[in-house]
Formats: sequence, C-alpha cells, structure tokens
Amino acid sequence: MGQAQWTEVDGFLGSLLVGEDPALAEATAAAQRAGLPPISVSPAQGKFLYLLAKTLGARRVLEIGTLGGYSAIWMARALPADGHLVSLEYSPRHAEVASGNIARAGLVGTVEIRVGDAREQLPKLAAESADPFDMVFIDADKGGYPAYLEWALKLTRPGSLIVADNVVRGGAVADGLSRDPNVQGVRSYLEQVAAHPRLEGTVMQTVGVKGYDGLSIARVLE
Ligand code: SAH
Ligand code: DHB
Ligand code: MG
Repeated sequence: MGQAQWTEVDGFLGSLLVGEDPALAEATAAAQRAGLPPISVSPAQGKFLYLLAKTLGARRVLEIGTLGGYSAIWMARALPADGHLVSLEYSPRHAEVASGNIARAGLVGTVEIRVGDAREQLPKLAAESADPFDMVFIDADKGGYPAYLEWALKLTRPGSLIVADNVVRGGAVADGLSRDPNVQGVRSYLEQVAAHPRLEGTVMQTVGVKGYDGLSIARVLE
C-alpha cells in the first residue's frame, strides 16, 4: 500500500468515472508544454468540484489560484448558460495558458480570469457589489488561506460553500509545532473554520495521484 497503489486506483477511477475528455486532456498537455507545475486537482477531484457546484445549483463561482485552468474548466461546466466563474491568478504566464485552455474548452463566456495578487484582487471584487458567490474554491498560496477565508465570507451568502484544497499536506496538518508556513496557513484556516460562528465545516482526507492530502468544505450558515 502507498503512493503506487493510490496512483493506480486514481487511474482506474479516472478512466471509469471521468473517461476521455479532449478539452481537459489538452489543458493538461498545454500546461505541461508551458512548464507549469503539475499541481492541478486530479480528474476525480475535478469531477468532485463539478458535482458540488451542480448540487448547489451554483450560478457564480470564485476560484483563488487558476494555474492552467483545469479546476476552473471543471467548475465552469457545472454552471448554467448565464453562469459566471471568476478566477484569480498571480502569474500572468499561468493566466495566459489558462485563457487558451478555457477558450479551447468553449468557456470564454463563462470564465473570467483576473491577473494579480489575490490579496489585491479580492478587495476590488468586494467593492463591485455584484451578486454573492455560491461557491468559492481556495487553491492559491497556503499562507494566504486565512485571509482568503475572510474575503470569501464577505463575498458569499448563507448556504454558499467554501472549499479549500491541500489542507492535510501528507499529514503535516496535525503537527502544531510545524514551522512550515504552508502548514501554519492551513492550520490557521481550519482553526478559523472551526471557530467561526457563521461556518460549519469538515475535512475529507484524500489519497490519489497527488499523494496524501485533503479538501476542506465549509458552509456559510443562515
Ligand atoms: N486550481 C488549480 C491549481 C492552482 S495551483 C487547479 O486545480 O487546476 C496555485 C496557483 O495559485 C498557481 O497558479 C499560483 O501562481 C497561484 N497563486 C499563488 N499565490 C497567489 C496569490 N497570492 N494570488 C493569486 N494567485 C496565486
Ligand atoms: C501545490 C499547490 C497546490 O494547490 C496543490 O494542489 C499541490 C501542490 C504546491 O504549491 O506545491
Ligand atoms: Mg491545490
């Protein structure tokens, strides 16, 4: 048991439950060609995000951390024709690769990428007084997670879902003495989820092609 088996099972589940998907395969290939790091969510996780958005009946989704647009494509596909996904990305190069991938996936009318540090983009987004987001997917720098959660709370409504990737980190999340800023970031994030009077949340630990990690899911209370 271990990584080899998790990868094999993820391959099996991906073939069975996701299958061939030209737009997603091309998005992954283009990201690889451009030298982006291979850190998108897995196919099974992408479908999980899609199912969450569909189950919510989401019309508006906010993503923090676009990379090559892989998870954005999954979530955008769950939205109705007039739905909207805003994705924040620090790196202009990542955003450019993502734009091409989103165009090839036929989602130009749905996905809007905003380039810049999420810490600067989020206050701008909040100042626009647009409709609240039904779902937020936090997947950028882990040290920023506590701040991103505060902004997510300002940008959502009762019943919205706030999802955060990579919160288990090979088990390191349980180490309260860790000096790793990524571990400290996700620990603070989860402590905030646990303590916040307007949130109820949990973490699903995951194993698969991306190793041992986990997704946090929190619901904004009425
Ligand atoms: N959600 C993507 C993966 C995101 S990887 C997927 O699953 O397909 C994390 C991304 O966050 C990287 O592209 C990185 O450039 C971006 N990022 C890191 N720090 C950021 C910040 N402060 N603001 C916005 N984006 C950031
Ligand atoms: C990293 C970031 C991610 O969002 C992820 O899913 C895996 C790894 C990273 O920065 O190493
Ligand atoms: Mg991630």
